[in-house]
Amino acid sequence: MNDEVLDSDVEEFRRAGHAAVEWVARYLERREELPVLSRVEPGEIAGRFDNAPPLHGRPMESLLDDVDRKILDGVTHWNHPGFFAYFAITGSQAGIIGELLSAAFNVNGMLWRTSPAVTELEQVVLDWLRQALGLPAGLFGIINDTASINTFLALAAAREQLGLDIRSEGMTGRELPLCRIYCSDQTHSSIDKAALALGFGFAGVTKIRSDSRYRMDVEHLRAVLEADRRNGVRSCAIVATVGTTPTASIDPLVQIGALAEQYGAWLHVDAAYGGSAAILPEMRWLWDGVDAADSIVVNPHKWMFTPVDCSVLYTRKPEILKETFSLVPEYLRTSESDVINYMDYGLQLGRRFRALKLWMVFEHYGLEKMRQVIAGHLKMARKLAASLAELPDIALMAPQSLSVVVFRRLVRNGAGEVDQEESDRATERLVERINASGESFVSPTRLEGRLVIRVAIGHGQTEWRHLERLLQVVR
Ligand SMILES: Cc1ncc(COP(=O)(O)O)c(C=O)c1O
Repeated sequence: MNDEVLDSDVEEFRRAGHAAVEWVARYLERREELPVLSRVEPGEIAGRFDNAPPLHGRPMESLLDDVDRKILDGVTHWNHPGFFAYFAITGSQAGIIGELLSAAFNVNGMLWRTSPAVTELEQVVLDWLRQALGLPAGLFGIINDTASINTFLALAAAREQLGLDIRSEGMTGRELPLCRIYCSDQTHSSIDKAALALGFGFAGVTKIRSDSRYRMDVEHLRAVLEADRRNGVRSCAIVATVGTTPTASIDPLVQIGALAEQYGAWLHVDAAYGGSAAILPEMRWLWDGVDAADSIVVNPHKWMFTPVDCSVLYTRKPEILKETFSLVPEYLRTSESDVINYMDYGLQLGRRFRALKLWMVFEHYGLEKMRQVIAGHLKMARKLAASLAELPDIALMAPQSLSVVVFRRLVRNGAGEVDQEESDRATERLVERINASGESFVSPTRLEGRLVIRVAIGHGQTEWRHLERLLQVVR
């Protein structure tokens, strides 16, 4: 008989766990002293570790020392209030504790029976989230890891809704009509990736022009849909974005929804970042037209203080999602009726207890505090845009929207005209200066071919003083 078991001494966990929590608390206290963007060279971190795994273990406490010595300087501190790159996120205190408990339970919520609390808390908190954001009643919600996966699921359902028997007959060995997905030229790359994985290919994605404010040009969409209809192309789905990645622009949902209905296309709304702003009653206009949406994605792990990963897919057509993905082998059959088995609504079987951390965030902070913090982000973004606009060699490159500010350094030639190439180089140098400061981290992107700097405010502890530091470098 083998008597060897793991973790025979819970007391050891208690000691190491206290030390780990102390380590985390100290990290949260001193994070502002650490450079936001890691400065290590490629390979530097890997070079600190042995080539082979240890034969014998060692106490947890000594591992925390190793985290300090070998890992910490290789971390880019997303959980730093000076993080303004991509979309800023927050590992909030409530969220960290939620993750700890979730790891302790280590449940797999594939079926209601495999942990009723996973399924039922997910249903409860997703209805809370729906109410908090002012989304329509009657939406079915599911948590997955990322918006990319949720968009994939939504577009798979949209493909199933075409009635082409894709599920039973597949996509090869027979004639199928050309089917398309429509989205703007500002849409996140996850839409293209989903289209590639679902067999639409790049040829099956039509990028609709955006207007001068980087919103989908509805007249262009109408013209493309009409031309495609005349040519026998099936309109599978339209993806509208509430808060695009480059500029946080907001596509006109009302008109897009009307076209989706007219042309029989599934309407998917990517509000992965922007949706959280609707927690403010005065921002509910973001959802004007959302009643027509077949699916909506919102990421609490972006702008709602919940640690990565936690992305929510809402749909008013759960039956189609289920038709697309449900496959129940004998060993997963259970007898309960009137329960949700979340494995039926997506690709993955196993699922983490992500609702726990979202529930903790709601319960610990409450809507009022969450609203105050998000309202603060919007206010700081407006103030930052106004401050940048006053600087002589800086130009705002997109209308300021939500918590994002997009700008560029301008260099003029002797005749006073903007030299675009020189401006690109100067903007690139400015990004490097900001990021080398260690106090802020911004990410550049290109708009109409020109390099621009994005500042995305979204960390729960960001205050104006953090943006002042960034402004100082720009000045
Ligand atoms: C608008 C938008 N949609 C989707 C995504 C993809 O998010 P995820 O990393 O959750 O897949 C992003 C990422 O920043 C985004 O900005």
